[in-house]
Amino acid sequence: MKLAISGKGGVGKTTLSALLAQAYADVGREVLAVDADPSPCLAGALGFPDELRAQLKPIAEMDALIEERTGAKPGSIGGFFTINPRVDDIPERFSVLHRGVRLLESGSVDLGGSGCICPEGAMLNTLFTHLIFRDDDVLILDMYAGVEHLGRATVDFVDAMLIVVEPTRRSLGTARQIKKLANDIGLDRLWLVGNKIRNEDESNFVAAESPGIPVLGFLPADLGVQEADRLGIPVYDHVPALKIAAAKMAEKLVER
Ligand SMILES: Nc1ncnc2c1ncn2[C@@H]1O[C@H](COP(=O)(O)OP(=O)(O)OP(=O)(O)O)[C@@H](O)[C@H]1O
Ligand SMILES: [Mg+2]
Repeated sequence: MKLAISGKGGVGKTTLSALLAQAYADVGREVLAVDADPSPCLAGALGFPDELRAQLKPIAEMDALIEERTGAKPGSIGGFFTINPRVDDIPERFSVLHRGVRLLESGSVDLGGSGCICPEGAMLNTLFTHLIFRDDDVLILDMYAGVEHLGRATVDFVDAMLIVVEPTRRSLGTARQIKKLANDIGLDRLWLVGNKIRNEDESNFVAAESPGIPVLGFLPADLGVQEADRLGIPVYDHVPALKIAAAKMAEKLVER
């Protein structure tokens, strides 16, 4: 199962990605978490120790590797390069493993829309489409905020996209835009996740104002989330309410 987590900036994509990754790992599934944010922070949310985090570098920034595999320097214009470089060794070589979650930083390049193709785009595109899993394995892609980068290539390989919203019209507006883009490229398995929910009015608001996307679940607003960040420990370990809510969502996704 391959899941992409999207939504407006700051709504809780990384928090949800980390919770789901750990929830699946804890029930014994193989999990690959991919941080596609140009300023990655999923490693921190998952509580990866410093020595492992130091080994991570976004694939899109590995100029020498990209040149070796595609035949062209990233950022170069014109010339020839291969659009299906060898990538099979990359997940194993460049990911780190902690508490059952394998983590890879992909970095973000514009993979769609504009029709432009570059060596680093070819590299990530091939990598993403190559990550073939057994049915029981779980891939979680923590995406870059917003919609601009949501191209065909990025979502070609996902089974479902989770759109995180806060109980605000703005974040629901972004969800609507994401839905439109996703539908345009043929991705219609979408779920809405309401985060930072303080009461029933807020969960009702999200459900009522959803742009036609079924609600997967809600995560409560909890000061423990910031506290976990300050203490440098995963929300999963620090805030039982969020751990429980995420485990329910993880289960529901498997059932579907
Ligand atoms: N359920 C929650 N309760 C309280 N605070 C939360 C909750 N979820 C997330 N936050 C806070 O909201 C902020 C953004 O969370 P997070 O980094 O997960 O969002 P994001 O969507 O990944 O952001 P970005 O767009 O920058 O990648 C953080 O400060 C986090 O502590
Ligand atoms: Mg994030």
